[in-house]
Amino acid sequence: MDILFKKTGVSDNEALIVGIYDNLTFSKTAKKIDTENKGALTEALRHTSFTGKKDDVCRLFLQNRELLCIGLGAKERADALTAERAGARAVNALADEKGSVAFAADDLPPAAVGFGAKIASYRFTKYKTEREADFALKEFYVLTEKAQAAQNAYEPYFCVAKGIHTARDMVNEPANVMTPAAAAARAVELEKYGLKTEVYDEAMLKAKGFNLMTGVAQGSNNPPKLIVVQWRGNPDTEETHAVLVGKGVCFDSGGLSLKPAQGMEDMKFDLSGAAAVLGTLQALAMRKAKVNVAGVMAMVENIPSKTAQRPGDIVKSLKGLTVEVVNTDAEGRLVLADALTYAQERFKAPVVIDLATLTGAILVALGREFAGLFSNDPALSADIKAAADATGEKLWPMPTDESFDKQIVSYIADIQNTSTEGRMGGSCTAAAFLKRFIDDGVKWAHLDIAGAAWNNKSSLFGPKGGSGYGVRLLDRYIRDYVENKTDG
Ligand code: BES
Ligand code: MN
Ligand code: ZN
Repeated sequence: MDILFKKTGVSDNEALIVGIYDNLTFSKTAKKIDTENKGALTEALRHTSFTGKKDDVCRLFLQNRELLCIGLGAKERADALTAERAGARAVNALADEKGSVAFAADDLPPAAVGFGAKIASYRFTKYKTEREADFALKEFYVLTEKAQAAQNAYEPYFCVAKGIHTARDMVNEPANVMTPAAAAARAVELEKYGLKTEVYDEAMLKAKGFNLMTGVAQGSNNPPKLIVVQWRGNPDTEETHAVLVGKGVCFDSGGLSLKPAQGMEDMKFDLSGAAAVLGTLQALAMRKAKVNVAGVMAMVENIPSKTAQRPGDIVKSLKGLTVEVVNTDAEGRLVLADALTYAQERFKAPVVIDLATLTGAILVALGREFAGLFSNDPALSADIKAAADATGEKLWPMPTDESFDKQIVSYIADIQNTSTEGRMGGSCTAAAFLKRFIDDGVKWAHLDIAGAAWNNKSSLFGPKGGSGYGVRLLDRYIRDYVENKTDG
């Protein structure tokens, strides 16, 4: 579905979308329609439960025109996120409409309306062989006085939407398709936007000592790949301003510590961290962000077999610390540990942010919408939280503490990959494990996105499947706190 901006002109068969605030406070266009029709809109709405509160929708016909009213809530609180939600809600209501629809933006920022509509129109239909799976709506017009300015403002939003779509596609592809090699191919495809990609194969990883990563991968016939993607948008400096590291477990069966069958099909989503990293780099490249950012994606498959890693195995990490693998299902922290070590050594960036569908415990703690945010730096944590709030991607700060550090000491190796105290605080002990691999002086944040990365049913901004969580907030964090700091 295409987003287009124009000044006026709704064709007769086009549905018109108007916003209405709390207590039936009409936007300009809604008021105009009401006046032209001698109060018929007010009258029609009076017979429904629609009041204009946030998330209200009412579809009606007025003089042969289809009209969709979207509740915007309190007028004084309407912002860019209100506009995004309204655009998305319109698409959800009108997805089956053939042809085009037009949204009268009035006081809402038009580019944000378009962005919400764009990401809500995402569908993953390549495996549906029947035609009706297609998305009918082809053009979404946003009506605004300043159409050209809106089009310009939409440009960076469009880039972020493309990044989100890339991340969702990677997550939605089944694990028989989205292998580590296939993920690498996706990354290489994005070189057309100016990204620089390197792919390290199993032989290289073994030679360099990525033993935690190759250990997790050793049960699978699909060999691991370490993918390094760079966007160098600021040629004035050699510095890499931030590194993003993603957990890329293409399928997490648990390994020999096998997961139960129930819900295991969703474990193709376990590469969501890596997918968000790639989507973010795509967005940065497409919008030509004046910043140097690297992405490190650690791709493996966690499968039981006669060559699989065993519980109790002791493995020497790239950093040199020895790890007792108590549970082969706590594989994400193993893979990330080597990727984090490499990311710091190679890029020497002041900021390292990792994203990972790391623990089921984060779902218990925060539910399906919030990511957990762990960090060793309060300022970085505050910046990331602010970027999250600005984009509507929810996250909540979680603790790092000595008490968790103590729980990962092994009786036989330096550390172990589960807690000696069992499942309590599982997300915090996982973060404590990662923290052991962070060098002094590096500002680090870890986002546990095991809840937020997957929509278990269709939501406002997209269908069941990968949510693309992380792309919006990382792009925003880089725009507001990295890019603008390094300017000039
Ligand atoms: N990828 C999973 C985390 C996960 C579990 C996400 C359930 C979504 C739903 C991760 O690799 C994992 O299996 N973690 C274990 C760790 C445990 C063995 C210490 C978990 O959370 O159960
Ligand atoms: Mn696991
Ligand atoms: Zn996992």
